[in-house]
Amino acid sequence: MSENASSPRTPPWCAPPGSRTWRCAPAPSDVRGFHAALPGYSPTSLTETPPLAEELRVGRVFVKDESCRLGLPAFKALGASWAVHRTLAERAANGRQPGPVTLVTATDGNHGRAVARMARLLGQRAHVLVPQGVHPRAVAAIAAERAKVTEVAGPYDEAVRLASEAAAVPDAVLVQDTAWPGYEQIPGWIVEGYSTLCAEIDEQLAAQGVAEGPDLVSIPVGVGSLAQAVVTHYRSRPTGRAPALLSVEPETAACVLESLTVGEPVSVTTGDTTMAGLNCGTPSSIAWPYLRRGLDAAVAVPDGDSARAAARLAALGISSGPCGAAALAGLRATLTGRGTDECRTALGLDATSVVVLLSTEGPAANPHATADH
Ligand SMILES: Cc1ncc(COP(=O)(O)O)c(C=O)c1O
Repeated sequence: MSENASSPRTPPWCAPPGSRTWRCAPAPSDVRGFHAALPGYSPTSLTETPPLAEELRVGRVFVKDESCRLGLPAFKALGASWAVHRTLAERAANGRQPGPVTLVTATDGNHGRAVARMARLLGQRAHVLVPQGVHPRAVAAIAAERAKVTEVAGPYDEAVRLASEAAAVPDAVLVQDTAWPGYEQIPGWIVEGYSTLCAEIDEQLAAQGVAEGPDLVSIPVGVGSLAQAVVTHYRSRPTGRAPALLSVEPETAACVLESLTVGEPVSVTTGDTTMAGLNCGTPSSIAWPYLRRGLDAAVAVPDGDSARAAARLAALGISSGPCGAAALAGLRATLTGRGTDECRTALGLDATSVVVLLSTEGPAANPHATADH
């Protein structure tokens, strides 16, 4: 089978025409400065890959490589650091005791490790609940941050529910990267934290002569918080073009694709996937309005497509874990499978288009890739 021969079993969802004109308010401007002042901060690389541009029949393809972000192998520390900072600042402003607080969260791996790292650096405690299917080495990496780890015999949505219960004690705070009615402020701060990634891309593309920004961004999606940040960034810019935004999920956890298809947020039953960070059954409630109005297309891919995309990226010198490589797998499924000409036209892509793939984790974040190959 050729590298790009596999096509999605479910066809990509495409937004009605005109969705790209939807506008929203921007993220706060002080997030970037906060991250820039953190020890060990530097922008992650944006690497141009001409062979992928040729394969995808577009002008230029850049890969945002989040395999080393603030010392961790995924982008998640951007959201966790800003949200923990805002949480602790808010507690101090409300006159709470400065003594240690327990930061509680559920995780598919990366977010929990980032929360645990922040807790350790700031002299706080962390309690991380991990659902079934997270690789033992990812669980060990969370424990190595001196977090209390509780393994849950159920899927991610169940771990989130139990984390919310575990945080309902004095001196504990739930720092969850997904929202539901009544729990929105902290997930909102996490989304704000991700804005730094998009700000870096703008600067890096401008330095490469692409001042207008990309024509398409491909985003790996779990609950949709990262996608919410990307929509917010590109649908609030005063200048520059409005790129097409593509969400990519595992076939076994395509809650955003399903929600977009039926027109309202729905939960799906999740199964096993190597794309552990994307193994979520319910879209974040605060992300949904942004996803519904701001995304242009959504697609679901099988694990094999993600593994092939990771191998292709590795051959081009970019280290991607299964979730990170999903960005390429989804774009391949959208642009190069059978009957995808309509998608290409709907997304407004041609041989001059500039594409950005968000490779959100390195292989160290999610060792499934190394176990399987
Ligand atoms: C590596 C990686 N990529 C993408 C995502 C998706 O982010 P979200 O759940 O905000 O959609 C996650 C979430 O954990 C992740 O760990």
